[in-house]
Amino acid sequence: EKDILNKLPLRGKKVLITAGPTYEAIDPVRFIGNHSSGKMGFEIAKAAANLGAEVVLVTGPTHETVLHALIQVKPVLSAQDMYDAVHNYYNNTDIAILSAAVADFKPKEVATQKIKKKSPTLTLELEKTKDILASLGAIKKHQYLVGFALETNNELENAKGKLKRKNLNLIVLNSLQDKGAGFKSDTNKVTFIDDDENITEFQLKSKADVAKDLLNNIIIQIDA
Ligand code: CTP
Ligand code: CA
Repeated sequence: EKDILNKLPLRGKKVLITAGPTYEAIDPVRFIGNHSSGKMGFEIAKAAANLGAEVVLVTGPTHETVLHALIQVKPVLSAQDMYDAVHNYYNNTDIAILSAAVADFKPKEVATQKIKKKSPTLTLELEKTKDILASLGAIKKHQYLVGFALETNNELENAKGKLKRKNLNLIVLNSLQDKGAGFKSDTNKVTFIDDDENITEFQLKSKADVAKDLLNNIIIQIDA
Protein backbone atom coordinates (compact mmCIF):
# COMPACT_ATOMS: atom_id res chain seq x y z
CA GLU A 1 0.00 0.00 0.00
CA LYS A 2 1.36 3.38 -0.95
CA ASP A 3 1.68 5.94 1.85
CA ILE A 4 1.37 9.19 -0.02
CA LEU A 5 2.01 11.30 3.11
CA ASN A 6 5.52 9.87 3.39
CA LYS A 7 6.28 11.44 0.03
CA LEU A 8 6.04 14.95 1.47
CA PRO A 9 9.73 15.98 1.59
CA LEU A 10 9.45 18.19 4.68
CA ARG A 11 7.23 15.87 6.69
CA GLY A 12 8.26 15.97 10.37
CA LYS A 13 10.61 18.93 9.82
CA LYS A 14 10.16 22.00 11.98
CA VAL A 15 10.44 25.27 10.07
CA LEU A 16 10.69 28.66 11.78
CA ILE A 17 9.92 31.72 9.64
CA THR A 18 9.91 35.47 10.33
CA ALA A 19 7.84 37.86 8.23
CA GLY A 20 6.68 41.45 7.96
CA PRO A 21 7.97 44.65 9.49
CA THR A 22 8.55 45.45 13.17
CA TYR A 23 7.08 48.46 14.95
CA GLU A 24 9.35 50.30 17.38
CA ALA A 25 7.43 52.43 19.87
CA ILE A 26 8.13 56.16 20.16
CA ASP A 27 5.34 56.86 22.63
CA PRO A 28 2.02 55.15 23.46
CA VAL A 29 0.49 56.04 20.07
CA ARG A 30 3.42 56.25 17.63
CA PHE A 31 6.05 53.95 16.21
CA ILE A 32 8.86 53.62 13.66
CA GLY A 33 8.01 51.03 11.02
CA ASN A 34 8.50 50.15 7.36
CA HIS A 35 6.47 49.16 4.30
CA SER A 36 7.15 45.40 4.37
CA SER A 37 3.96 43.57 3.37
CA GLY A 38 4.90 40.23 4.93
CA LYS A 39 3.93 38.47 1.68
CA MET A 40 7.26 36.73 1.11
CA GLY A 41 7.30 35.16 4.58
CA PHE A 42 3.67 34.07 4.37
CA GLU A 43 4.30 32.45 0.98
CA ILE A 44 7.31 30.58 2.40
CA ALA A 45 5.17 29.39 5.31
CA LYS A 46 2.43 28.12 2.97
CA ALA A 47 4.90 26.42 0.64
CA ALA A 48 6.68 24.72 3.57
CA ALA A 49 3.41 23.53 5.11
CA ASN A 50 2.25 22.20 1.73
CA LEU A 51 5.46 20.13 1.66
CA GLY A 52 4.55 18.67 5.07
CA ALA A 53 6.59 20.88 7.43
CA GLU A 54 5.38 21.99 10.86
CA VAL A 55 5.69 25.75 10.59
CA VAL A 56 5.97 28.49 13.20
CA LEU A 57 5.44 31.87 11.54
CA VAL A 58 6.58 34.80 13.69
CA THR A 59 5.16 37.87 12.03
CA GLY A 60 5.17 41.60 12.57
CA PRO A 61 1.99 43.57 11.77
CA THR A 62 0.67 42.76 8.26
CA HIS A 63 -2.61 42.41 6.37
CA GLU A 64 -1.68 38.84 5.40
CA THR A 65 -3.62 35.96 6.89
CA VAL A 66 -3.20 32.21 6.63
CA LEU A 67 -5.23 29.28 7.88
CA HIS A 68 -3.40 25.96 7.67
CA ALA A 69 -3.31 23.05 10.10
CA LEU A 70 0.50 22.94 9.92
CA ILE A 71 1.09 26.69 10.41
CA GLN A 72 1.19 28.27 13.86
CA VAL A 73 1.11 32.07 13.60
CA LYS A 74 2.81 34.08 16.35
CA PRO A 75 2.10 37.80 15.96
CA VAL A 76 4.69 40.21 17.40
CA LEU A 77 5.25 43.97 17.30
CA SER A 78 8.82 45.01 18.05
CA ALA A 79 12.23 43.62 17.11
CA GLN A 80 12.68 42.61 20.76
CA ASP A 81 9.34 40.71 20.71
CA MET A 82 10.41 38.97 17.50
CA TYR A 83 13.82 38.12 19.02
CA ASP A 84 12.15 36.57 22.10
CA ALA A 85 9.61 34.56 20.06
CA VAL A 86 12.25 33.24 17.66
CA HIS A 87 14.58 32.18 20.48
CA ASN A 88 11.68 30.31 22.11
CA TYR A 89 11.48 27.97 19.11
CA TYR A 90 15.03 27.85 17.73
CA ASN A 91 16.30 24.83 19.67
CA ASN A 92 13.41 22.80 18.30
CA THR A 93 13.85 24.04 14.71
CA ASP A 94 15.35 22.24 11.72
CA ILE A 95 15.15 25.08 9.21
CA ALA A 96 14.98 28.80 10.10
CA ILE A 97 14.15 31.31 7.37
CA LEU A 98 14.30 34.96 8.44
CA SER A 99 12.53 37.12 5.88
CA ALA A 100 11.27 39.85 8.22
CA ALA A 101 12.18 43.49 7.59
CA VAL A 102 13.33 44.09 11.15
CA ALA A 103 13.84 47.72 12.15
CA ASP A 104 17.57 48.38 12.50
CA PHE A 105 17.06 51.16 15.05
CA LYS A 106 14.57 51.90 17.81
CA PRO A 107 14.00 54.94 20.03
CA LYS A 108 16.44 54.80 22.93
CA GLU A 109 13.71 55.94 25.28
CA VAL A 110 9.99 55.33 24.86
CA ALA A 111 7.92 58.26 26.15
CA THR A 112 5.31 57.10 28.65
CA GLN A 113 2.93 59.89 27.66
CA LYS A 114 1.98 61.06 24.17
CA ILE A 115 4.63 63.52 22.96
CA LYS A 116 3.09 67.02 22.58
CA LYS A 117 3.94 69.29 19.63
CA LYS A 118 5.00 72.14 21.91
CA SER A 119 8.47 72.74 20.41
CA PRO A 120 9.19 73.48 16.71
CA THR A 121 11.57 70.53 16.34
CA LEU A 122 11.79 67.09 17.88
CA THR A 123 14.93 64.99 18.12
CA LEU A 124 14.68 61.27 18.74
CA GLU A 125 17.75 59.36 19.82
CA LEU A 126 17.84 55.90 18.24
CA GLU A 127 19.82 52.83 19.17
CA LYS A 128 20.40 49.59 17.29
CA THR A 129 17.97 46.72 17.69
CA LYS A 130 19.29 43.20 18.27
CA ASP A 131 20.19 41.41 15.04
CA ILE A 132 17.94 38.37 15.31
CA LEU A 133 19.49 36.49 12.40
CA ALA A 134 23.06 37.05 13.62
CA SER A 135 22.05 35.89 17.10
CA LEU A 136 20.77 32.60 15.61
CA GLY A 137 23.93 32.18 13.55
CA ALA A 138 26.02 32.59 16.69
CA ILE A 139 24.31 29.68 18.48
CA LYS A 140 23.65 27.51 15.42
CA LYS A 141 23.92 23.73 15.91
CA HIS A 142 21.92 21.37 13.68
CA GLN A 143 19.79 24.13 12.15
CA TYR A 144 19.82 25.11 8.48
CA LEU A 145 19.79 28.91 8.66
CA VAL A 146 18.54 31.15 5.86
CA GLY A 147 18.61 34.95 5.72
CA PHE A 148 17.52 37.59 3.25
CA ALA A 149 19.52 40.58 2.06
CA LEU A 150 17.94 43.72 0.71
CA GLU A 151 20.54 45.59 -1.31
CA THR A 152 20.62 48.51 -3.75
CA ASN A 153 24.34 48.51 -4.60
CA ASN A 154 27.31 46.10 -4.44
CA GLU A 155 24.60 43.48 -4.15
CA LEU A 156 26.60 40.24 -4.37
CA GLU A 157 29.46 41.46 -2.18
CA ASN A 158 27.12 42.79 0.51
CA ALA A 159 25.03 39.62 0.49
CA LYS A 160 28.13 37.38 0.71
CA GLY A 161 29.34 39.52 3.62
CA LYS A 162 26.06 38.98 5.48
CA LEU A 163 26.16 35.21 4.77
CA LYS A 164 29.62 34.98 6.37
CA ARG A 165 29.13 37.47 9.23
CA LYS A 166 25.85 35.94 10.33
CA ASN A 167 27.03 32.31 9.88
CA LEU A 168 24.24 31.37 7.43
CA ASN A 169 23.80 28.34 5.18
CA LEU A 170 21.99 30.34 2.52
CA ILE A 171 21.16 33.96 1.77
CA VAL A 172 18.44 35.21 -0.55
CA LEU A 173 19.53 38.42 -2.26
CA ASN A 174 16.53 40.59 -3.00
CA SER A 175 17.18 42.80 -6.01
CA LEU A 176 15.49 46.17 -5.91
CA GLN A 177 16.86 47.01 -9.36
CA ASP A 178 13.84 45.73 -11.25
CA LYS A 179 10.44 47.34 -11.09
CA GLY A 180 7.94 44.92 -9.60
CA ALA A 181 10.41 43.49 -7.12
CA GLY A 182 10.40 43.95 -3.41
CA PHE A 183 8.42 45.25 -0.50
CA LYS A 184 4.87 45.90 -1.66
CA SER A 185 4.73 43.87 -4.84
CA ASP A 186 3.59 40.30 -5.47
CA THR A 187 6.80 39.51 -7.33
CA ASN A 188 10.47 39.26 -6.44
CA LYS A 189 13.77 39.02 -8.29
CA VAL A 190 16.16 36.95 -6.20
CA THR A 191 19.60 35.34 -6.23
CA PHE A 192 20.53 32.49 -3.87
CA ILE A 193 24.06 32.34 -2.44
CA ASP A 194 25.00 29.36 -0.31
CA ASP A 195 27.92 28.67 2.03
CA ASP A 196 29.72 26.81 -0.78
CA GLU A 197 29.59 30.06 -2.80
CA ASN A 198 27.10 28.58 -5.29
CA ILE A 199 25.24 31.48 -6.88
CA THR A 200 21.85 30.91 -8.56
CA GLU A 201 20.10 33.84 -10.22
CA PHE A 202 16.36 33.72 -10.89
CA GLN A 203 14.01 35.68 -13.14
CA LEU A 204 11.36 38.02 -11.79
CA LYS A 205 8.52 35.78 -10.55
CA SER A 206 5.66 35.60 -8.07
CA LYS A 207 6.57 35.44 -4.39
CA ALA A 208 4.74 32.09 -4.25
CA ASP A 209 7.12 30.74 -6.90
CA VAL A 210 10.16 32.28 -5.18
CA ALA A 211 9.07 30.43 -2.03
CA LYS A 212 8.93 27.13 -3.97
CA ASP A 213 12.40 27.73 -5.47
CA LEU A 214 13.76 28.47 -2.01
CA LEU A 215 12.34 25.33 -0.40
CA ASN A 216 13.44 23.23 -3.36
CA ASN A 217 16.99 24.55 -2.90
CA ILE A 218 16.93 23.92 0.86
CA ILE A 219 15.60 20.35 0.48
CA ILE A 220 18.40 19.53 -1.97
CA GLN A 221 20.98 20.99 0.45
CA ILE A 222 19.79 19.23 3.60
CA ASP A 223 19.52 15.86 1.84
CA ALA A 224 22.98 16.16 0.30
N1 CTP B 1 17.68 40.84 10.41
C1 CTP B 1 17.35 40.40 11.68
N2 CTP B 1 17.37 41.27 12.74
C2 CTP B 1 17.71 42.57 12.55
C3 CTP B 1 18.04 43.03 11.25
C4 CTP B 1 18.01 42.13 10.20
O1 CTP B 1 17.03 39.21 11.85
N3 CTP B 1 17.72 43.40 13.60
C5 CTP B 1 17.69 39.86 9.31
C6 CTP B 1 16.66 40.08 8.23
O2 CTP B 1 15.46 39.39 8.53
C7 CTP B 1 17.34 39.50 7.01
C8 CTP B 1 18.82 39.75 7.27
O3 CTP B 1 18.94 39.98 8.67
O4 CTP B 1 17.16 38.10 6.93
C9 CTP B 1 19.42 40.89 6.53
O5 CTP B 1 18.68 42.07 6.72
P1 CTP B 1 19.17 43.39 5.99
O6 CTP B 1 18.30 44.54 6.45
O7 CTP B 1 19.33 43.14 4.53
O8 CTP B 1 20.66 43.55 6.55
P2 CTP B 1 21.21 44.16 7.89
O9 CTP B 1 22.08 43.10 8.49
O10 CTP B 1 20.13 44.72 8.75
O11 CTP B 1 22.18 45.33 7.38
P3 CTP B 1 21.80 46.68 6.56
O12 CTP B 1 20.32 46.94 6.73
O13 CTP B 1 22.68 47.72 7.17
O14 CTP B 1 22.17 46.37 5.11
CA1 CA C 1 18.52 46.18 7.97
